[in-house]
Amino acid sequence: MNRNSKRYILKLLFIAFIVINAGIITPIYIRTVKYNDGGDSAAAGENKKPVSLSILTTTTTTIQVVSNHNDVSFWNYGIDLETLPKPRSTLNISVLLTELKQSYVIIAACAHNEARNIEGLQSVVNMITHYFGRYTVLLGESDSKDNTLEKLRRWALNDTASNVHLFALGNLTAVEKNITSRTMRIAHCRNTLLNAARTEFELSKSQYFFVCDPSQASDLSVFTRENFLSNFMYDRNEWAAFTATQTYDYYDIWPLRSKLVNHDALDMVNRYKANWTFWPAWDNFVTPYKRPIPLDYPHLIEVNSAFGGAAIYQSKYLKSCNYSGWLVDKEVSEHVPFHECIKNISGGGARIFINPKFQTATDWKD
Ligand SMILES: *[C@@H]1O[C@H](CO)[C@@H](O)[C@H](O)[C@H]1NC(C)=O
Ligand SMILES: *[C@@H]1O[C@H](CO)[C@@H](O)[C@H](O)[C@H]1NC(C)=O
Ligand SMILES: *[C@@H]1O[C@H](CO)[C@@H](O)[C@H](O)[C@H]1NC(C)=O
Ligand SMILES: *[C@@H]1O[C@H](CO)[C@@H](O)[C@H](O)[C@H]1NC(C)=O
Ligand SMILES: *[C@@H]1O[C@H](CO)[C@@H](O)[C@H](O)[C@H]1NC(C)=O
Ligand SMILES: *[C@@H]1O[C@H](CO)[C@@H](O)[C@H](O)[C@H]1NC(C)=O
Ligand SMILES: *[C@@H]1O[C@H](CO)[C@@H](O)[C@H](O)[C@H]1NC(C)=O
Repeated sequence: MNRNSKRYILKLLFIAFIVINAGIITPIYIRTVKYNDGGDSAAAGENKKPVSLSILTTTTTTIQVVSNHNDVSFWNYGIDLETLPKPRSTLNISVLLTELKQSYVIIAACAHNEARNIEGLQSVVNMITHYFGRYTVLLGESDSKDNTLEKLRRWALNDTASNVHLFALGNLTAVEKNITSRTMRIAHCRNTLLNAARTEFELSKSQYFFVCDPSQASDLSVFTRENFLSNFMYDRNEWAAFTATQTYDYYDIWPLRSKLVNHDALDMVNRYKANWTFWPAWDNFVTPYKRPIPLDYPHLIEVNSAFGGAAIYQSKYLKSCNYSGWLVDKEVSEHVPFHECIKNISGGGARIFINPKFQTATDWKD
């Protein structure tokens, strides 16, 4: 049992204790604690956590905080069932496989110190490319201290169809390149692959662009064929991107922007950790949203942004948008500006969903 699950069980016991003793089960999950001080919490200024069920209002934005001992998470909050795409009722597997065989997919993966996950990623990528009539795999690497680069090189050389291309970006932290921010390095790598797809590998002729991280897309026992194929159960006119999820928890809160998490959760942790220390801040702004999405959760989850280690895009939405890991004066999850741009240029027509069946990994692995 790892530290997180111990903490979680202790919390559950504690909550059970309170519920049993007080005889209460909170009927309303979210209530408002108003403060308006230009961005920082008055409650936090008093050096204590605000009550856990709260909506914190700042001058610029409304930040909603739920406790992690109730039934609300971002994925079952404020859903509008009427507008959600439904799986195509007429679809059968042979029709689906034929559609994919007529399609071109471009796969992009950036790796940094991921040597232990490269063979796994390769088998996942092989599982995927097998379904498509045409494929290109773009691999990016930078700054690794292990043999990630060597393994990627071997993979690229060993692809008999020569459809695997490696972009060795070197040492981006080195003085000449001077990209000291981690998210800026990742954004640089993702942009390199995306722009190569545009200029060298006919992105405009592809139907799908699949982005994946080695740490989250390298375990075929979790990331099964069924999970991958679940993305194609929906009419292509109804989605721009499907993003992945995990079995153990929903780990990727940083790139998430939804009705409930409509702000940068890690930025909130950074702002409040000085007063609350790190874990209480984390438990307010991140933990409540990590509760896993059940594999059989029956709806797509519409978001403004999400990632989760893998995402499939329809290429037609990617003509001009780029990643960016820096916003004004701090790091931002590079997926957020990318998704904002995709939604902006489509005039709101590009819809992004977390697909509960698109499970790719058990838990965050470094
Ligand atoms: C932390 O506490 C100090 C002093 O009590 C206060 O000035 C500051 O605004 C607080 N910071 C946050 C993020 O609440
Ligand atoms: C799938 O659908 C196609 C076209 O509607 C039909 O020709 C085919 O027989 C169906 N296959 C199965 C296994 O139901
Ligand atoms: C190279 O490809 C061959 C044949 O497909 C395979 O048996 C071998 O394991 C591959 N080697 C690497 C390093 O991927
Ligand atoms: C990359 O650059 C950093 C900073 O200059 C340096 O400490 C590190 O050794 C370099 N790594 C490699 C693999 O060259
Ligand atoms: C590296 O970039 C930072 C800001 O991004 C700058 O402050 C610093 O002077 C740069 N260092 C070098 C050696 O160029
Ligand atoms: C994205 O990057 C490409 C290549 O650098 C550039 O041509 C394009 O204008 C950028 N798109 C936006 C929206 O900035
Ligand atoms: C998207 O549009 C909004 C509103 O026009 C604008 O403020 C924002 O900068 C745009 N974002 C991107 C990434 O294009």
